[in-house]
Amino acid sequence: MASVLFEDQQIPRALLRERAYNHRWAETGRGVIPLTAADPDFKVAPEIRQAIARYTDEGLFSYGPARGLPELRTALVRDLSSSGYAGLDVDRILPLDGAASCMHAVARAFLSEGDEMIVLDPVDFLFEEAALRAGAKIKRCPYNPASGDFPLETLETLVSRRTRMIGICNPHNPLGRFMREDELEAFAHFAEEHDLWILNDEVWREIVFSPHEFCSFHHLPASLRKRVISIHGFSKSHGLAGLRIGTIATPDPETHATILEASGVMTTAGGASTLSQIAATAALEECREWVDAFVLHLSGLRDLAVERLNAMPGIRCESPEATFLLFPDIRETGLDAEALADFLARKARVAVIPGTPRFFGPGAAGHIRLSFATSEKLLERALDRIEHALKQLVPSAY
Ligand SMILES: Cc1ncc(COP(=O)(O)O)c(C=O)c1O
Repeated sequence: MASVLFEDQQIPRALLRERAYNHRWAETGRGVIPLTAADPDFKVAPEIRQAIARYTDEGLFSYGPARGLPELRTALVRDLSSSGYAGLDVDRILPLDGAASCMHAVARAFLSEGDEMIVLDPVDFLFEEAALRAGAKIKRCPYNPASGDFPLETLETLVSRRTRMIGICNPHNPLGRFMREDELEAFAHFAEEHDLWILNDEVWREIVFSPHEFCSFHHLPASLRKRVISIHGFSKSHGLAGLRIGTIATPDPETHATILEASGVMTTAGGASTLSQIAATAALEECREWVDAFVLHLSGLRDLAVERLNAMPGIRCESPEATFLLFPDIRETGLDAEALADFLARKARVAVIPGTPRFFGPGAAGHIRLSFATSEKLLERALDRIEHALKQLVPSAY
């Protein structure tokens, strides 16, 4: 059943214009609908607001524990374990200021100048950035649309003496799919064989549409999880992007200690704000129903958007099984991704992310990415505008 929580009147337009940055409302022109950065248009769950208010009312903001609040670490392990995750330990969870920051900390911990990391292509630019900032180089493994995977044969050709890590985005931004058990097993065997760490980014784990059931490395046998360092977040599932909070789960105490050292938290230079950890704890402990309602809302919008996009000239869009991201192939419009994004911003007054190497690698060419974590009404309006603009661009289709 559709929830009133995600109806159009719940979208705080004035606040979004004031506060939503990163290619979104505060950074786009008036009248533009930004389907850009993956950040919901809705206020966070009341339970999170109440938890923050309770903590704030008490008025004490002393240093928190350097290793993170035990209640957050406990809540995360409990939540993941209830989804069948194995191999987690409260003492091996480290909260930091955002999943992106977690990725950087892991890269810093295990990559040095001249090392190499394999990243998927396309994939969110954060993987590349984490590797480059650590002084490493990247090699990209292209997605094969025909086989629907990142082929193991290609991975094998990318390994060198200096390869130390492979980055896995599961569920995948921007492809909107999650890895199947056999794919995860293949990645795990590959990592074992070549002595690699797996940087396992699961920030999208909660946004998976029924009837699909998410599969994680943590559902595999222990022998296949030994090299897996998992990152979780709260920006997508709970709208906490501005609170900058994410977590790293490590497979053993030694790995945890290495990341702890690289993170800087033990020197008080870094770490997650206590208030953000309070919000994340409430997200894990009190928001199950809210997230379920959010995902149900999103699945309705996904169906609507996919159907409408596929009826537009020059657009082919697969239905994502996870994430609130659409990644349509736009090659038949005759424009490249950057030109089409520019055209849509000007003519349709809708901002999207172009599939350029900067955002997702060369494998994103011929695609744009749209985030649909908004209301049905706003999404419909954006799609109407896109359709109208495309009719001018590809008039022969009508
Ligand atoms: C795959 C992936 N990892 C990490 C992040 C960053 O998450 P956070 O806002 O917690 O830094 C994003 C945000 O778009 C993402 O899509």
